Amino acid sequence: MVKLKLGVLISGRGSNLASLIEACSQDDYPAEIVLVLSNRKDAKGLERARAAHIPAQVITHAEFADRDAFDAALTEALAQAGVELICLAGFMRLLGTDFVTRWTDRIINIHPSLLPAFRGLHVHERAIEAGVRLSGCTVHYVRPEVDDGPIIIQAAVPVLANDDAARLAARILEAEHKIYPEAVRLIASGRATLQHDTVMLEVSRDTQAPLINPPIKD
Ligand code: GRF
Repeated sequence: MVKLKLGVLISGRGSNLASLIEACSQDDYPAEIVLVLSNRKDAKGLERARAAHIPAQVITHAEFADRDAFDAALTEALAQAGVELICLAGFMRLLGTDFVTRWTDRIINIHPSLLPAFRGLHVHERAIEAGVRLSGCTVHYVRPEVDDGPIIIQAAVPVLANDDAARLAARILEAEHKIYPEAVRLIASGRATLQHDTVMLEVSRDTQAPLINPPIKD
């Protein structure tokens, strides 16, 4: 099987990277990770990459004069490794428009909210503050605007009465670990394609009951 070559960009813990590594370890999964890049050398995710014998590099933004030079170094490493799809997985640097354009339709991101609600940072605090009953996570193609771009897959997760940001984050993270490998699978198998800036899916979207919170008792 020809596998789609992934480059995963991280800055920290790397639990989403771990979920991708786990998926890629299955013979029939249509993608493989050829490079992990981190902008921080203390990123825990680097250890996960090394433990799985995946090439991992640190490219520290502080070593470059400006964002364009940093982005160019990322592009060089990714191109050199033959990366076909970039997966942002907790990568905490903003990428410049030139980078996003260079890799257009070949970068995806995971964000811990139901986009377009709660773009940006402190997502879980803001969701609790807003009193939403459902939050969740989204995998989407990356566009120059932060947390913007065509949606591939989402998971909705209930917000419980006594949630704090950490509890909600943990519940959503579990769903992240399911949907990121699935998004990559859909793209790599050709069942998610971009048409006119919308993701068209060759899988059923009609199989799930609504998630209602609070639940309706009969
Ligand atoms: C995740 O919540 C992801 O949605 C967000 O950053 C966090 C990264 O966590 N973009 P990890 O490094 O994958 O554990």
